[in-house]
Amino acid sequence: MSDFTLMPAGVTLDLPEGTTLLQAVLAAGGKFAESCPGAKCGACHVFVTAGRKGVSKMTPVENARLDSIIGVSGKSRLACQASLTGTEAVTVELLGALSG
Ligand code: FES
Repeated sequence: MSDFTLMPAGVTLDLPEGTTLLQAVLAAGGKFAESCPGAKCGACHVFVTAGRKGVSKMTPVENARLDSIIGVSGKSRLACQASLTGTEAVTVELLGALSG
């Protein structure tokens, strides 16, 4: 199990290893403007602000998609591509416009 916190809502859940960040965000009450079968729309862009070692490694597909998105940082991940590894508590922050 892995502690997952969604910010700025401040909701923390204990979720199984393998849960995608997208599933975790939705379980914590967050939402995204749209979704796709995987690494195509970029709408699930989130910032992992703590616990980066608690998230799966970035694949070349995810990395390539992030390269085409404006506003990415070293903390950026695609929530549909990254999953909890259970090794460290993870905090994710949604982009401001979608954090409502
Ligand atoms: S849901 Fe489309 S890139 Fe993640």
